[in-house]
Amino acid sequence: MKKFAIAIDGPAGSGKSTVAKILAKKLGIVYIDTGAMYRTVALSCIRKSIDTKSSGDVVSSLENLNIDIVTENGTQRIFLDGEDVTGKIRTQEVGQGASDVGLILEVRNKLADMQRQMAKETSVIMDGRDIGTNVLKDAEVKIYLNASVDERAKRRCGELEQIGCPLPFDKVKEQIIERDRNDMSRKHNPLMKANDAVEIDSTYMSVEDVACEIIEIVNKKIGR
Ligand code: DC
Repeated sequence: MKKFAIAIDGPAGSGKSTVAKILAKKLGIVYIDTGAMYRTVALSCIRKSIDTKSSGDVVSSLENLNIDIVTENGTQRIFLDGEDVTGKIRTQEVGQGASDVGLILEVRNKLADMQRQMAKETSVIMDGRDIGTNVLKDAEVKIYLNASVDERAKRRCGELEQIGCPLPFDKVKEQIIERDRNDMSRKHNPLMKANDAVEIDSTYMSVEDVACEIIEIVNKKIGR
């Protein structure tokens, strides 16, 4: 089977990573969560008391940044200076910081280079904000996954509860609206649907239904 790539972009809480993990297992390909990389840059800054909005300081810190990604059984673990931070990057604070560092061109270029390198040798499913429009412009399959703000806030509340950091619905919704604004209006590689992406609105769909719809698209496009 020829190597291929699936790009999944979409706003916070649209279900990209949940669906991508399922698809990676079903298709036997590598899953790459690019949001986790931005989150790890943010965590590194927060730990060093660097303001994630201060581009000069964030860029200076990139020189000593040491991020490693290991994929096991379709799931990704991410390491910062040798420490497994996979669980520690899931807080709202780190998510907001990730959105801030994602505004910085030098951060984007560094992470996009790493992402392209990872997709060079093997078939991947990569999720993020600029995969179909920038990182993997030639991806065989491009999906833009969306859902209503209320539904996305509801899902994010559930996730935060699961990791023991619950927040009120209204607060989460407010943060999602703010994050959408940040991600969609930034100067470099803003979140948008690629011209050749298929848009799926997952508001009233189960994760399994979304996965099935994408598998159908994959089958049609690359004739599996
Ligand atoms: O998908 P996520 O919530 O883990 O992503 C966190 C933030 O990282 C997101 O709000 C913006 C940034 N990001 C980005 O700018 N580009 C990507 N390809 C992935 C994430």
